[in-house]
Order: sequence, then structure tokens, then C-alpha cells
Amino acid sequence: MTIKTRRLANALGAAVLDVDLSQPMEPATFRAIRKAWVEHLVLVFPGQQDLTPEQHVAFSRLFGELDRNEATPSYRLSGYEEVIAITNRPASDGKPSPSKDVGRKWHSDLDFTLRPTMGSLLWCGQLPEVGGDTMFANMYQALETLSPGLRRTLEGLEAVYDVMAGVRAEDGRDAAALDEMRANSRSVAQPVVRVHPESGRASLFLSERAVRFEGWTEEESRPLIEHLCRHATQPERVFRKQWQPGDLVIWDNRCTVHQALADYDRSQIRYMRRTAVLGEPSGRLVQE
Ligand code: OGA
Ligand code: MN
Repeated sequence: MTIKTRRLANALGAAVLDVDLSQPMEPATFRAIRKAWVEHLVLVFPGQQDLTPEQHVAFSRLFGELDRNEATPSYRLSGYEEVIAITNRPASDGKPSPSKDVGRKWHSDLDFTLRPTMGSLLWCGQLPEVGGDTMFANMYQALETLSPGLRRTLEGLEAVYDVMAGVRAEDGRDAAALDEMRANSRSVAQPVVRVHPESGRASLFLSERAVRFEGWTEEESRPLIEHLCRHATQPERVFRKQWQPGDLVIWDNRCTVHQALADYDRSQIRYMRRTAVLGEPSGRLVQE
């Protein structure tokens, strides 16, 4: 079975042009998709306008066990604990959407937990007139383009994540969402270099949600975290997704980071639905 793909950027990203995700999938088609995903890191499936939440979940489950969104129940699509709505569309009671500012920092989904994700599947339902883009960066390339000396240093390091760090400073974050995040907040250390279990390649694993390196002070850590995040997200290592309604995008959280841009008129509605596939446990709890 072959699928028709077209590359979308030099560093990562490809479109899959001939697959209808609302239909049951042959195992051979799924194997071809998974192979293309490991090769391209981000896959875009255009034209899935009528994808239901059930079909979204069914396709996602082919990749593995799904996150049940216990860390952020307020984001859940009602009736679907495995699906979250990422949107600025106000709730039916008129309150601001708790997920309206999700993903503004460069991150890998659930990088602050003991079991970060393998991948995420994001479907676009409604867009503002312009903008609402998402950026993805290739973390294999980020690691491979460092000096051998810095790379050796990173191979022995863990980064410590605290999901609350810096969140307060983000404007417009809903108070209920803040309380929910605070209640679930723990410090988790992750290896800064991980080997991808499917490709066998080493990748940088670090995001703007990291607050320090284990055994280092925050003051010592901050310049290196900032340097590495800036290095990793240089434009030549980035694919910038300009969405169309009906796009479903799946990205590999083990070897990419992503960021949701607020590059649109916030009075217009952007509506997305997301599932996330759990990966292998890699974090450990550390003291604050
Ligand atoms: C996510 C996320 C990006 C976006 O769903 O995990 O970061 O552009 N979303 O909505
Ligand atoms: Mn995300």
C-alpha cells in the first residue's frame, strides 16, 4: 500500500493527499501512514471537514493509548473525555473558553508529566479570516546542529518542568483554568536527550516550559534553556502550518516542539479539536 504524500517544508511536514479518515482503515494503509509520520514528523490530512469526534478518536487509537485529559478536564469536549476543544469560542454561559490561550509557548504536549505524549492529532473546525497558525520545529535537527561539546553536556542532563511556571504572566488566562492547573502542578524531571523508539535517532527534548536543569539553579539554567529553545526554533527548522477548515494534523511530540500563535483577530472564532496519544514514561518526580 502506498499513500500519496507531498512535502510541505524543508525541515519537517508532509501532506497526505488521498486518505479519508472518516472511513475504516486497512492495516496496510495505517502502516504506510505511520511510516510517513516517523519520516516527516508532522502529517497534514486535508479535506476532513466532516470528521466526527468518534472518527477522530477511532483514528487516534490506531497509534496507541489516548490521554484522558485528567490534567485539564475543563478543556474536554463534553461527552468525550479523550477529546479537548482548543478554542476561543465562549462557553454557552458566555464565559471565556478556558483553552483560548493553550500552547502559546514552544512545548511538547504533556512534557511536564511523568508520561509525555507520543503524538497529538489536531482537527480544524473553524478559523478566523486570517492567521491562527501553528508552528512546529524539528528537534532531531536541533540536537544534531549543536557543538559536540554542548551535546555531551546535554546527554547527562535532566530538565525540570513546572506547568505553572510563567503561566500567571500570560495575559487573559481564565481564573478557573489557572486553579485547575495549579491543583495538578508537580515538578517533573525529563532527560534532555531522548532516543526516539521508532526511528532510533536521538532528539533534543526541551521546551519553554522547562524552569531549570536538575542540580542547577534557575538563574544558572535560564540562559542555556533560552539559548537551546531559540536554537531549536530557528526558522529553517520550522514548518508553519496555515490551517484550512477540515485539516487534521498529527505531529510527533517525541522529536518536535510546537507553538500556537495568537496571530489573529481574537474577536473571530478559531475552533479546533485534539486528541493525544500517550508515549513511554520518561519523567520522574523531583522536589521543588
Ligand atoms: C495543542 C496545541 C496548537 C494550536 O493542541 O496541543 O498546542 O495551534 N495547539 O491550537
Ligand atoms: Mn500543544
